[in-house]
Amino acid sequence: MASLGVNIDHIANVRQARRTVEPDPVSYALLAELGGADGITVHLREDRRHIQDRDVELLRQTVRSRLNLEMAATAEMEAIALRIKPDMVTLVPEKREEVTTEGGLDVAGQLEPLKGLVGRLQEAGIGVSLFVDAETSQLEACRATGARWVELHTGTYAEATWQQQPLELARLTEGSFIARSLGLRVNAGHGLTYQNVEPVAAIEGMEELNIGHTIVARALAVGLEEAVRQMKALVQNPRREPLFGSTSS
Ligand code: PXP
Repeated sequence: MASLGVNIDHIANVRQARRTVEPDPVSYALLAELGGADGITVHLREDRRHIQDRDVELLRQTVRSRLNLEMAATAEMEAIALRIKPDMVTLVPEKREEVTTEGGLDVAGQLEPLKGLVGRLQEAGIGVSLFVDAETSQLEACRATGARWVELHTGTYAEATWQQQPLELARLTEGSFIARSLGLRVNAGHGLTYQNVEPVAAIEGMEELNIGHTIVARALAVGLEEAVRQMKALVQNPRREPLFGSTSS
């Protein structure tokens, strides 16, 4: 059964729209935990567009589930992670001009520096996950870094047309199988919604889904605690019928 990591970056986005003190993502992390979040995820971006350094420091002191820090593989972020010691670091690609993370990290293309960074974080007792596309070459490179986890990028699945979605789901299922046969543990995330999450949650070996935008969007209507509760129910007990549009009969 997969667990649920709740990404609260978009709470901070609302605060930063006015550069004020509310809503405070630290308080909302507590509400997410009350709703059943198994972990809290934040992305400390280099441009600090949403989550701030102070948020990460306070979350380290207050989160009672698990704190997952998404960050770029830079010297600045490494120093912050080694000081704050989140339970998990998820290394992601980052471009200043992007609206949100686009695609997985090119682990194969920067294997040596990543090996060093993964080693230093793990030596400090921090779990490391690499956010990658479900491609064999990238998964093999993840294995070569010594990281224990991968987070499969589900953005392409999430954005696919209904005709394409079964193919993208098959890619994720195969990616999960390959990763596990390489000895890696498997998480997934990006672009998942209440409508598309169940087939991904049902993939064999899926350990954790990291989900943010759709939960924060629903929280506007029902409150964060309830929005998390509703997502957790889908993640824990996904329907297993074929996807609408699946060609298999
Ligand atoms: N996982 C990773 C690595 C991400 O970068 C993000 C977005 O910050 C998420 C999961 C959550 O994506 P979403 O907000 O679309 O649910």
